[in-house]
Amino acid sequence: MSRLLFAANWKMHHGPAAARQVVHEVLARHRPVAGREQIFFPPSVSLAAVLEEIKGRRDVAAGVQNVYWEAKGAFTGEISAPIAAEAGATWALVGHSERRHKFGETDAETGRKVRAVLAAGLKAMLCVGELIEERRAGRTEEVVLRQLDAGLAGLDAATTAQVVIAYEPVWAIGTGTHATPHDAAAVHRTIRQWLTARAPAGARHTIVYGGSVTPDNAAALLAEEELDGVLVGGASLDAESWIRILSTPQPNR
Ligand code: PGA
Repeated sequence: MSRLLFAANWKMHHGPAAARQVVHEVLARHRPVAGREQIFFPPSVSLAAVLEEIKGRRDVAAGVQNVYWEAKGAFTGEISAPIAAEAGATWALVGHSERRHKFGETDAETGRKVRAVLAAGLKAMLCVGELIEERRAGRTEEVVLRQLDAGLAGLDAATTAQVVIAYEPVWAIGTGTHATPHDAAAVHRTIRQWLTARAPAGARHTIVYGGSVTPDNAAALLAEEELDGVLVGGASLDAESWIRILSTPQPNR
């Protein structure tokens, strides 16, 4: 049976009360399924509430949506990886397209963040993905591999294999237009080949897809062997919708 990762990126939604209520409902109604893991990425101020709710569920984890690469210091408004770890996070998203395109985060900065996350003992989910103009210009592969190269810079082969990659085409995020399963799988294959060339023989890379995943398209996307899971924004905010995604039938592949 393949392992599937279901990650919920709540972005700037759900304060502590709403976060607690959604997670409570999801976990009450969705029992653990072998080979499936859930990760919640709530706003940092809601992390404690989520952690309380997931206590005792080994199939569920929580993380932060971003970190700064320094461990501590005069960086008002930022959160470091060691501080997130101390607060109970076990994961961190790095290089989400909103960080890159709305906050001007560079490829090199994502690399510093990935290294900081791993040094703090957190698991990293590095997001990569092309803009629509880049796809139209036939530059998807070049862009995604450039982001990978910078995001994973300085890591040894064994560590590289531990980073989960989220392929999120920017044009698919929050737009209602998801990549077709075929197109998503093609980019995943490119990413996997790139990773395989840099990791120890036999290493298993986890690559998830994100961008307008919904209860209605999750099954078709996950039917692609290349997809090891999904990273979901809008459709993860509501317990009912998220439970439907978590309940996607085991793909026959
Ligand atoms: P979306 O967001 O599912 O709302 O498109 C995905 C993401 O940004 O991770």
